[in-house]
Amino acid sequence: MQPTRDRAWETLTRHTTSEALLRHALAVEAAVRAYAAKLGEDEELWSVVALLHDFDYEIHPTLDKHPQDGAPILREEGYPEAVVEAVLSHANHLHLPRDTPLKKTLFACDELSGFVHACGLVRPDGIETLEPRSVRKKLKQPSFASGVSREDVYEGAEELGVELDEHIAFVIEALRPIAPRLGLRTAAA
Ligand SMILES: [Fe+2]
Ligand SMILES: [Fe+2]
Repeated sequence: MQPTRDRAWETLTRHTTSEALLRHALAVEAAVRAYAAKLGEDEELWSVVALLHDFDYEIHPTLDKHPQDGAPILREEGYPEAVVEAVLSHANHLHLPRDTPLKKTLFACDELSGFVHACGLVRPDGIETLEPRSVRKKLKQPSFASGVSREDVYEGAEELGVELDEHIAFVIEALRPIAPRLGLRTAAA
C-alpha cells in the first residue's frame, strides 16, 4: 500500500472523534511536514507518520496500550513497516531508537506543537505575534500546560540538533497557516 496523506487522514478519523486529538494530529503534521520540506525529505510520508502517531490514543488512552497496541492495526491496514516503526518510536516508554531524521523530528515536534498551541490559546491574537522568548518563559512555569513534558521538549530539540529558540520559531511558523483550524484566534478574526 502506498501510504498517502489522504489514507492516513481516513485512518485517523475512523479511530478518532475528539476534536482536541485531531487538532493535535494536524499541528504535529504541520511542524513535521515543514521540517521535511526544509530537509528535502518525503513530505507525504512524514505527513502520514505525523497524522498517525496518536491515531489509537482515543481507543488506547493509556501507556500500557498506546501506541504499541495501535501498531497491529496499522499493519493490518497495510501501512509499511517504516511507518509503523516511526510511529512507535515517539513513545519514550518503548525505548526504541530514534535513528532517522523522521523519528527525531516527530519526537521533537510532538510535545512542542502542543505547547505552542497552548501558548496561542491564551493570547488575543493566537500565535500571530508569539515569539520563542515567551514560549520559553512559559516552559519554566510548571503550572502552565502541565501535561506537556518539558523534558521531552528539551530532549527533542537536542536529539534533532537544533537550538531550542530556532526550533520553537520554526514550529510557530509552521502552525501559523493552520491557526484557524487549530481554534486559534487571528488578528483579522
Ligand atoms: Fe503518543
Ligand atoms: Fe502526540
